[in-house]
This record gives sequence, structure tokens and C-alpha cells, in this order.
Amino acid sequence: MSSAGVRAVAGRVWRGTVAHVPRDPFRVGPEALEGWADGAIAVDAGGRIVEVGAWREVRARHPSATVEDRRGAWLLPGFVDAHVHYPQVGVLGGLGLRLLEWLEARTWPHEARFADAGFARAEARRFLGLLARNGTTTALVFGAHQAVAMEAFFHEAAASGLRITAGLTVGDVGLPDALRTTPELAYAEAAFLARRWHGRGRLRYAVTPRFSVSSSEALLAACGAVVREVPGVWATSHLNETPEEIAVVRSRFPGAADYLATYEAAGLVGPRSVFAHDVHPTDAELARLAAAGAVVAHCPTSNHALGSGLFPLARHLSAGVRVALGTDVGAGASLSVCGEATAAYAGQMLLGTEGAPLGVAHLLWWATAAGARALGLDGRVGDLRPGRDADLVALRPPPGSTLEAALAHAADLPSALATLIALAREEAVEATWVAGAPVWERPGAA
Ligand code: GUN
Ligand code: ZN
Repeated sequence: MSSAGVRAVAGRVWRGTVAHVPRDPFRVGPEALEGWADGAIAVDAGGRIVEVGAWREVRARHPSATVEDRRGAWLLPGFVDAHVHYPQVGVLGGLGLRLLEWLEARTWPHEARFADAGFARAEARRFLGLLARNGTTTALVFGAHQAVAMEAFFHEAAASGLRITAGLTVGDVGLPDALRTTPELAYAEAAFLARRWHGRGRLRYAVTPRFSVSSSEALLAACGAVVREVPGVWATSHLNETPEEIAVVRSRFPGAADYLATYEAAGLVGPRSVFAHDVHPTDAELARLAAAGAVVAHCPTSNHALGSGLFPLARHLSAGVRVALGTDVGAGASLSVCGEATAAYAGQMLLGTEGAPLGVAHLLWWATAAGARALGLDGRVGDLRPGRDADLVALRPPPGSTLEAALAHAADLPSALATLIALAREEAVEATWVAGAPVWERPGAA
């Protein structure tokens, strides 16, 4: 309803099986999940949601709206990926390496190729297209080390229509020559890109030191200066991913109390900071992350593939740390946020009594609204309440697929949704919209 109490006019109504999680299930429990087997989402001409509910009721109130008929498909809020690397699609699927070996042997040589502007632009277009094809409408993207590649990336991100927060990745020690910068150059390039792109349309800038392993104190300080000087920018990095990495940080920063302190000293820890992994935090770090309002991006398929460990979710929750979900491609298994939610669930089960019990409301919350909150976009996207932008994904079981067979036997809407999250991957994404406009449509669908 508008402030005058008059319902806005919907130009279009989406019809399908609708579900969202408008409230935090970690606080309110499974009732946080809302869904309608024959549901509808009414959207105004500006791409804003006017109403969500049962088809018959919504349709009766908007009888002349054009119908986007997606019966047989699920309509969910667009997925939010809180940690994914643009220059790493080409290293997906590596086996047999732990983090530091994987970076040296596989990842850094590939990331060096992004010095070629043409290659970088083509890869950026491909990467962003794949996000949309996976149902992701909002992402915090770890960038390339080359300013020319990030300029190309932001151009492509603007054209994609997606909500993208990203930045130049920087590091000045322990990296191959092709990726190494200096504190002065890192400051100049990041400040230039941040001033040029932050706040343009749906784009925002994130100051991005790769991790403290590849940073001098001066480089982190340069990153902190950009955060201070360009209002509203974000900061992102990696934190406490593996014991080997933590040992390197300890020896390189002997004056720091712990890993988080290396970022704190540079002014990089606050409510617009997102740290990937945090598999091995101390209690003191968790308390400080919570006090700062910083976010941890949980990246389970990456943690499992690199053998980094099982995420201590219960400790994050009891400390009050905000947690979102990231695919962490290319160490992660895929660009599917549903795949990540499924792996997060399995990881907690493997922790036994130390694991946090997760239900379907938690998984959909993590894939959507938790990410939106983590990226400061709550109130705008993440759920389907009136006033939100219509960022949507339609998931349809491919004919003859295991997903189709499993859904045929689902007892009720929550169990069907659990099956959907467990099995729906890229092939099931029929269409993706941002603010009501298509950013991906499977050829031949609709
Ligand atoms: N730490 C520093 N760089 C990376 C990266 O590219 N992937 C992961 N998983 N961890 C990192
Ligand atoms: Zn990462």
C-alpha cells in the first residue's frame, strides 16, 4: 500500500509457485518462510513489487495487469552471492590442492591473463552472464588485479543490469610480478575506479586487498585511505581460511594480535566490510566482527574442496556475527547459490552436536535476504514484500530431470522447496529479472 493507503497499480503479475523469507529464521524460526503453491507477484511499471500472495486474491485486485505466466515454475527472490571471483571461472574444478598451493599453481597464473583488456572484457561479459543464468541478481565480486580489467568489468556490469559491488584486487608481497602492485599505485587506481564507478546505477565499489598474506602494512593502509576518502564504499577480503595461511599472517605481522587485527589497523573493519571464510576464528575475533557489524561470507563448497575446514556457524551465531553465503568461484564448486546453501547444510550436519541445525527457511534466507542485508540492500531486494524491487528468479525442473521426479512426491511446500534447493542448479534457471526487467531468459522458455 502506498502511504496514502491506495494500492499502487500493477502493470504485470507473475504467476507460479512463490516463496520468500521476509524475516530472519535464526530469530523467528521456520515460520519465517512464506509461500503460495499458486502464487502471484504484482509489479508496477517501475519494477517495484506491489503485492505478493495467492494468485486468486492478487489477480482479483489487479484484473487488467499483464500476466507473466510461469505456472510449473518456482518464483523466488533473485539470489545474492556475497563472495565470488570474476577472474576465476577458468580455474573451476581444480582437485588435490590446499589454498596456498592452489593459488600459486592454478589461480595466479590464470589471473595474470587479465592484463589483456580484450580478454578481460570478454571474460567479464561471460562471468556476468553466468551469474544471471544461475539466478543471481546481486553479487559482491572479487575483482582482477589489473585496473584495465576492472574498467572493462564495470562497463560490462553496467550493461548487465545486475546489482554488482566490486573492486580492484590489490597485493604487494608474495605475488607473481604480473599481479603485484605498490601501495601508491594501489591507492591511485582504487581511488580512481571508486570515484568513477561507485554509485553509478546499480554499481558500487569495494576496496579489495586480496588477503594479508599478500599485503604489506602500507598496502592495507592505502586501502584504508580509499575507504575513508570515498564515501560509502565497501571493503572486502579473505580471513582465517586455513591454518597455514593464518601462520603466514602471524609471522608477517608479529605486532598484530590476530588476523583480523591486520585489517582493523588499516580501518578496514566496519558495517560495510565482508570477509570471506572465517573457518578458524578466535573468540576475540568473533566478538570484534560482531561489534563492528562486519559480515562473514560463508563459502562451504570452497572450504570443502580446498580442505579448509567446516565452518563454525554456531560460534558465529552466538557471537552475533552477520553471515551471508558466497560461491567463491573458482575454489567453490559452481556459481549456484542453491548449491552453496545445500553444502552449508551438509557442513553443519557433519559437525554433529557442534553444528547449527538448519531448515529450509534458513537456506532460502541465506540465498536471498541474508545476502541483501549483508550488502546493505535490505528494504530494496532480498524478499518479495511490497516496495521491494522485483528481483526474481524462475526455477523450472527440466523435463525428465531428477528434480522433476523428486518434486512429484513432495508432501508440502516447505519440503518441495527443500528438494528444489537441493537439486535446482543452472539448468533449472528459466529466467532472471532485476527490477522487473529480464537479465536472463532460457532460449525457448516463456
Ligand atoms: N585467499 C586469497 N585469495 C584467495 C582466492 O582467490 N580464493 C580463496 N578461496 N581464498 C583466497
Ligand atoms: Zn575468495
